[in-house]
Amino acid sequence: MSKGYFITLEGGEGAGKSTQIKRLARALENVGINTITTREPGGAPGAEEIRNLLVNGETKRWAPMAEVLLHTAARAEHLDKTVIPALKNGSWVISDRFSDSTLAYQGFGHGVDKAVIENIYRDAFSNFKPDLTLIIDISPDVGLARAGTRAAGGTNPNEDRYERMGVSFHQRIRNGFLEIAKENPERCVVINGELDEDGVFSAIKDAVIKRFEIKI
Ligand SMILES: Nc1ncnc2c1ncn2[C@@H]1O[C@H](COP(=O)(O)OP(=O)(O)O)[C@@H](O)[C@H]1O
Ligand SMILES: [Mg+2]
Repeated sequence: MSKGYFITLEGGEGAGKSTQIKRLARALENVGINTITTREPGGAPGAEEIRNLLVNGETKRWAPMAEVLLHTAARAEHLDKTVIPALKNGSWVISDRFSDSTLAYQGFGHGVDKAVIENIYRDAFSNFKPDLTLIIDISPDVGLARAGTRAAGGTNPNEDRYERMGVSFHQRIRNGFLEIAKENPERCVVINGELDEDGVFSAIKDAVIKRFEIKI
């Protein structure tokens, strides 16, 4: 059995990650590739419990380093219980956020030393990394406006702790993701998230076709 691939979608609030992940999973399934979709923080029972601590409540409830460690604890559960077993099983795994979000939010956003975040990741998960990371780039004004609409009509209107952190925080995150993409050109592709849904999906499809040499 061939090994599955691990694809991550990254980007700020309202960039279109959740929308596009569904479309990508459907496209892969349509060509016979077993695909699971998952998310961070979360994606496994214990990790979802930790998610509740991170996405609800007062914006300042956690020290930035505590956020790094909570996200890392959730990631350990996610990888152990969901991602690694699925990849071993030959499935492809698409995750709505992964470790680049920790570097962008807690590093670029909150100012935690980036080398410290990278070292914690390496100590915990050695050299495991996504096969492809799609960074959906969007201006925070557009993204937060979209996320506001989503919250009003969505199923989890309260999971907005990070959304409430202010536009300058979200601007640092945007710059952080672009910096991460520049530093990891072999893994990351930047997608213009301000196109319409079909335009964004078309760019995502192109990146996946190029990276994995498949037809979707
Ligand atoms: N390309 C797009 N153009 C306009 N609206 C979009 C686009 N992609 C998604 N949306 C809408 O914006 C909101 C946020 O999208 P979502 O996929 O939930 O973003 P994310 O998961 O990155 O926070 C949703 O209401 C969604 O329908
Ligand atoms: Mg989402």
